Amino acid sequence: MQPVPVAFIAQQLDTLFADVRIDAVKLGMLGTADVVITVADALRRHRVRRLVVDPVMVSKSGHHLLAPEAVTALRLEIIPLAEIITPNLPEAEVLLNCAPLRTLADMRRAARDLHALGPRIVMLKGGHLDGDESTDVIFNGATQIELPAARIATKNTHGTGCTLSAAIAALLPRHADPLDAIRAAKDYLTAAITASDQLAVGSGHGPVHHFHNLWSR
Ligand SMILES: Nc1ncnc2c1ncn2[C@@H]1O[C@H](COP(=O)(O)OP(=O)(O)OP(=O)(O)O)[C@@H](O)[C@H]1O
Ligand SMILES: [Mg+2]
Repeated sequence: MQPVPVAFIAQQLDTLFADVRIDAVKLGMLGTADVVITVADALRRHRVRRLVVDPVMVSKSGHHLLAPEAVTALRLEIIPLAEIITPNLPEAEVLLNCAPLRTLADMRRAARDLHALGPRIVMLKGGHLDGDESTDVIFNGATQIELPAARIATKNTHGTGCTLSAAIAALLPRHADPLDAIRAAKDYLTAAITASDQLAVGSGHGPVHHFHNLWSR
């Protein structure tokens, strides 16, 4: 992992915000505390209101993608700005500094605790649950909903979380209710995982099929 100089990141963001109307933002892997602080500053300066935060910390292949001191910065500087956060179970454990989350009951409790960190909506993802269901738990401070999905047997699950958060950000401006954007993004992702075995890319975890809908035409 090679961090990019933070002045360069700030310039890229300022250039984009000056040139393009940005309706929603999605954040993924930020890497270091300096990057987290730089991005948080840009989000505030540009008054970003629709922010999806995928708090990427550990890759599917087990590589650590976020320095420990960056977790504190993420928790304090970015998460309170978020409309939606989409941690997986290991990331929720780090953010909450809690014991391993193993069951749906653990997830329901953790979704509430994560909401107390300041985002408007928590989507706690269940891809790391044991068993044949991969259920996500969503809490907006008032209502808790669960999006169950049968676990699809494939090794092509690389970027499921990234795909989901990007799809939510892309769909947010198209739905009056953010929960509808979340449901639509989850449906898109589940279809992309279902179709992923049409692809054979590389020897590790392959990608989900982002263009399944176009290919079928
Ligand atoms: N095998 C599967 N079948 C169906 N849905 C899955 C499967 N694996 C993950 N999902 C779904 O994909 C989304 C991503 O979940 P996961 O918990 O795997 O996130 P993640 O660990 O952040 O993923 P990534 O490693 O790609 O960043 C969730 O909506 C989850 O329910
Ligand atoms: Mg992820």
